[in-house]
Amino acid sequence: VIGDAPAVQVRLGSRSYDIQVGTGNLAGLANFVAERCRVSHAVVITDECVETTYAAQAAESLSQGGAIVDLLVVPAGESTKSLEVAEDLWIKMLELGIDRKAVVLAVGGGVVGDLAGFVAATYARGLAFVQVPTTLLAQVDSSVGGKVGINLPGAKNMVGAFWQPLGVLVDTAVLTTLPDREYRAGLAEVVKYGVILDAEFFAYLEQHVPELNAREAGVLEHVIVRCCRLKADVVEADEREETGGRAVLNYGHTFAHALEATAGYGTLLHGEAVAIGMCCAARLSQRVQKLPPRDVARQQALLLALGLSTRMPAIDRQALLAAMQRDKKVEHGRLRFVLADRIGRVGLVDDVDPVDVQTAME
Ligand SMILES: NC(=O)c1ccc[n+]([C@@H]2O[C@H](COP(=O)([O-])OP(=O)(O)OC[C@H]3O[C@@H](n4cnc5c(N)ncnc54)[C@H](O)[C@@H]3O)[C@@H](O)[C@H]2O)c1
Ligand SMILES: [Zn+2]
Repeated sequence: VIGDAPAVQVRLGSRSYDIQVGTGNLAGLANFVAERCRVSHAVVITDECVETTYAAQAAESLSQGGAIVDLLVVPAGESTKSLEVAEDLWIKMLELGIDRKAVVLAVGGGVVGDLAGFVAATYARGLAFVQVPTTLLAQVDSSVGGKVGINLPGAKNMVGAFWQPLGVLVDTAVLTTLPDREYRAGLAEVVKYGVILDAEFFAYLEQHVPELNAREAGVLEHVIVRCCRLKADVVEADEREETGGRAVLNYGHTFAHALEATAGYGTLLHGEAVAIGMCCAARLSQRVQKLPPRDVARQQALLLALGLSTRMPAIDRQALLAAMQRDKKVEHGRLRFVLADRIGRVGLVDDVDPVDVQTAME
């Protein structure tokens, strides 16, 4: 339904933009971009997994709209978010004669979005940028909020910028080809939004498990719109992560980051680690914030119903605790967690006892 697809406004003063959510709307990309900026030269950055499908579709729409289109393809995978790949893109763009009037489009998952956004933010001191996220995680999380960047060896997302797009176009139809694990990993972040901010949405998810597992377009549109709205609310209140408001999005993430680092990067997908991390966070919430056991059980049951594992892998708990103390979000080694006191409401809790943290991992 091109045209009347629902949209989410992200209100950030002069950097405001909207997120259009639909099914089959990728075909209308040229119009979507033309409504937001003058397009004479478009650079589509994508990875090799979606190059011949969605990037090609995007490029075709843009050239039909009259733009000169260059397609730049990077390898798929987290290691692509590197200075080397960014430099390669800068140089190719220079060779292609890309100037300040060009627009950069990211067509891909969070890796492509973060990398292309970083290149857009830095090339010629900043180019117009449009996101076309193609993973569920990118559609509900990474394409919203303007954080772009690359990794340094051993330091994820260490170099980057806040660079808001002119718009985000979400087409649920692209999710039909997403590998099962990637799809479910995205669902973990969806469940997270319910737990941290919206009990009613959490109940909606519980009531639509079969549709979610079947990737039903209508339910996906509703879910993506709600998640983007919730993230936009958080970002609007704390665009540059200065007031701590954005921290609620890290529910389950202190555990997840420790799991990802200790299990060896690549063993667990981020969303898979988040699912397990949320279970730890819920148990810790039960101890520290009196989260009712029934809510702990509801969260776990929903994650399981969506095909996510909630079991802690056999990793040395001491190593996990040490990794948490090294987390960049931990201030001066004091353990600080986003914890829930009921489904739909979380707060920051300082100085959590490491013994409670260890117990929560059992
Ligand atoms: N900027 C932010 O606020 C923010 C937030 C969360 C995560 N992130 C970043 O996002 C990245 C993870 O993103 P991701 O989970 O999307 O991973 P990803 O970009 O690596 O995509 C996962 C895999 O799916 C493939 N793929 C993408 N769309 C597809 C489709 N429609 N059909 C088939 N295959 C498809 C990709 O090629 C890739 O192999 C991390 O680097 C993380 O740091 C950023
Ligand atoms: Zn996450």
